[in-house]
Amino acid sequence: MDILTCEHLKKTYHGGGEPVCALDDVTLGFEQYSFTAIVGKSGSGKSTLLHVLSGLDRPTSGKVTYLENELEKYNDNQLSVLRRRRFGFVFQSYNLVRELTAQENILLPVMLDGRRPDEAYLNRLIDILDIRPRLSHLPGALSGGQQQRVCIARALANKPSILFADEPTGNLDARTGDEVLTMIRTVGKELGITLILVTHDLGVAEASERIIRLEDGRVADDSWSGGMHP
Ligand SMILES: Nc1ncnc2c1ncn2[C@@H]1O[C@H](COP(=O)(O)OP(=O)(O)OP(=O)(O)O)[C@@H](O)[C@H]1O
Ligand SMILES: [Mg+2]
Repeated sequence: MDILTCEHLKKTYHGGGEPVCALDDVTLGFEQYSFTAIVGKSGSGKSTLLHVLSGLDRPTSGKVTYLENELEKYNDNQLSVLRRRRFGFVFQSYNLVRELTAQENILLPVMLDGRRPDEAYLNRLIDILDIRPRLSHLPGALSGGQQQRVCIARALANKPSILFADEPTGNLDARTGDEVLTMIRTVGKELGITLILVTHDLGVAEASERIIRLEDGRVADDSWSGGMHP
């Protein structure tokens, strides 16, 4: 079953000079619990696609559907509630709140949503991401890999169904990047989260089940690894 689909997505930016067509007729479906990597050259539209799929940005035309919900029918407020509850985001830069401990950062989205944390779920998350010994530290006292693991925990604290990540290992050395990637995979499998990840790193892409390659805003290639397509 597809948890997320997009049909005939177009995104054109009008800023200053010539309009830029960042997405040009993109139609895709994302299977629930699958792990997809989106690759392509710089400027091919990867981040734009992730932003439009996740409701962070609206397409110029075309539609995005999460389960039965057509995002275009949501107003900005409804969209931000859907995003906060159902989607998690991880970016290349860590953007943690510097004045809050790792634990407080992780709990922030749950608190903002006025809900009580699911302790058992959070404990599971903290163990998979191996950040328990660092929970009382401020971000400034954490390594890059540790900060990114805290970001992943924060992104998942509200038990989203989909985790979107844009170059999550882009600022990490190869070995730390591999560790973070393995944790993202484990989290996806064990907590039942669909993963959609943008990367420049072919090693990261190969760890996924499906690789979508963008070229000039179009899907140039879409392949599942070794018969993994359900
Ligand atoms: N806010 C914006 N205003 C105008 N043009 C933009 C904007 N954001 C992106 N673009 C343009 O849209 C195209 C796609 O950009 P996008 O950021 O999606 O590429 P990308 O594949 O993520 O690249 P990178 O690998 O460098 O992150 C590029 O030509 C870019 O210059
Ligand atoms: Mg990008």
